[in-house]
Amino acid sequence: MSHVSHAYDFADAARAYAELARDLQALLSGENDLIANAANTAALIYEAMPELNWAGFYLYKSGELVLGPFQGRPACVRIAIGKGVCGTAAARRATVVVEDVHRFPGHIACDSASNSEIVVPLLRGEELLGVLDLDSPKPARFGDADARGLEALARIFVGSL
Ligand code: SME
Repeated sequence: MSHVSHAYDFADAARAYAELARDLQALLSGENDLIANAANTAALIYEAMPELNWAGFYLYKSGELVLGPFQGRPACVRIAIGKGVCGTAAARRATVVVEDVHRFPGHIACDSASNSEIVVPLLRGEELLGVLDLDSPKPARFGDADARGLEALARIFVGSL
């Protein structure tokens, strides 16, 4: 089994995400259990990426998002589709980047340390499996490189199932 064996240098984000993608592929290979792979994906991202205070999953169940494996402080359990940053990304089936969560209407505050957030939907074809959610204490922590990089990681995770 693979683990985080080196530091990722996010000064070159595209390169760091390429390395992270390779390591995630290795970490998940040969396993298709949803909870196990979500847990390891959250752990890898949280350990690899600087300036995060939360990284994890909400899984789509019975018409709403339910908290899945994560790293960080305890979080709210259920989020309706269309609510908060997570529910908005799920409803749009598109990545949502929020520079300042305090200015996002309907943002659901789980950890008061969070100032910026990115949520990537997990899609298998048309089917919504859930979302990948990252929070940061740093304002405007996430940009386009993060959106593209995390979308690639989300595809690897979905492909492992
Ligand atoms: N802030 C999220 C809720 C989940 S926590 O950040 C872990 C939202 O607005 O959907």
